[in-house]
Amino acid sequence: MKSYYIYTYGCQMNVHESEKLAGILESKGYEHAECVESADVVVFNTCCIRESAEQKILGNIGAIKPIKKKRKDMIVAVCGCMSQQKDMAANLRKKFPFIDIVFGANNVEFFGEYLDTYLEQKKFLNKVENDKQYIENASGVPFVRDNPLYAYVNIMYGCNNFCTYCIVPYVRGREKSRAPNEIYAEVKNLLNLGYKVITLLGQNVNSYGLDGSTGGVNFAKLLETIANFDGEFELRFMTSHPKDLSDEVISVIAKNDKISKSLHLPVQAGSNKILKAMNRSYTKEDYLLLVNKIRAAMPNITLSTDIIVGFPGESDEDYAETVDLIKKVRYHNAFIFMYSKRRGTIAEKMDNQVPLTVKRERIHNLLEIQHKISEELFTEMVNSTQRVLIEEEDLKYYRGKAQSGKVVLIEKSQKMLVGKFYDIKILSYEKGNLIGRI
Ligand code: SAH
Ligand code: SF4
Ligand code: F3S
Repeated sequence: MKSYYIYTYGCQMNVHESEKLAGILESKGYEHAECVESADVVVFNTCCIRESAEQKILGNIGAIKPIKKKRKDMIVAVCGCMSQQKDMAANLRKKFPFIDIVFGANNVEFFGEYLDTYLEQKKFLNKVENDKQYIENASGVPFVRDNPLYAYVNIMYGCNNFCTYCIVPYVRGREKSRAPNEIYAEVKNLLNLGYKVITLLGQNVNSYGLDGSTGGVNFAKLLETIANFDGEFELRFMTSHPKDLSDEVISVIAKNDKISKSLHLPVQAGSNKILKAMNRSYTKEDYLLLVNKIRAAMPNITLSTDIIVGFPGESDEDYAETVDLIKKVRYHNAFIFMYSKRRGTIAEKMDNQVPLTVKRERIHNLLEIQHKISEELFTEMVNSTQRVLIEEEDLKYYRGKAQSGKVVLIEKSQKMLVGKFYDIKILSYEKGNLIGRI
């Protein structure tokens, strides 16, 4: 039997698209290879959000060269956001002449056809298409999901926000919402198959339906409809842009037990000058008001965020605003990045770039502050009751996750079932894990 190996980089979108690639390959009779050396088809599903991501990918593609030398029949394909960039397919091929197929983030669905064409012609294929809109499941091939409990469901593609640092709108195209009935059918099917946590995916889920293509179904309505489906499950979504998280959505989350009380709300920066230069369309004050509103409706919600340090023009005072903001909000979790210049974005041309040494200093400092806050908040969870999905069982503990995504180790005082939710009393917080008992 022929086999495949997929390298996946980047966000949940890419993770989910790799599930599609696996589905296509398995429908063609390929099986998952134990290691890349033995695979007949190797796919790199790439990301280009930061330069560090690209460097890592290029290194990993380079490492295929000696393997391919020994195995001339191995097919190497590169797809995803990195290959979607202008002239990238040709550049990749020049750098790595052993690449056989390149295609973009928006035509994953057609990988099967590209593979057939390649096998027929045995000639390098460049299938990156710039004006193509992502098409979901045109082939009808199912996704191959490797986690039996957690499932991703796309609700929209692309992004219209053009934050000035970000390459996503250039490589993923304009926003397009998926038809509500298709989403409902997919979620129902996943629930029937036993999936317990459904995560709705989009770069900016709050603008679902605003393109007028969903017959008036907005994000709040979509969430509410799914939350009313039968069965025991948890509904999550990402990512929410603070500028259009409506009161209606907040109230739907608050009212529905099945919707996770854990929200990822990327703030990016605390300085109004920097937020404006980033084109985020809200101020620090707007954001803090929004957080207050969310917490007034759901006092126990856990919040997480994304932050960029060292955006062009970020002064010490601007950076201090970010520090102030994270101290005020107190996130359970924050993903903190150093600004990375991206080709073709507006910020690339800004002339007040921050030196790497300063960026390093700021990220180091901010990570330390955030770490302390996270530790305090998780310690405060001791004595609370958390709803936990049991994922596995080892000799000493059941292991599961709370809604915040935090691992919970549960003493084996009584029989529990993998794939079920339990209310767990938190007894302690040790070495990054919550320890609890049913
Ligand atoms: N659509 C999502 C996030 C997409 S990218 C949103 O708007 O929240 C994930 C994160 O990567 C962003 O939130 C941002 O913090 C970070 N990011 C994006 N472009 C970046 C860049 N050029 N340099 C550093 N971090 C970046
Ligand atoms: Fe990038 Fe901004 Fe769109 Fe998120 S909302 S994908 S950060 S442009
Ligand atoms: Fe990366 Fe593309 Fe996601 S650039 S972060 S894989 S949308």
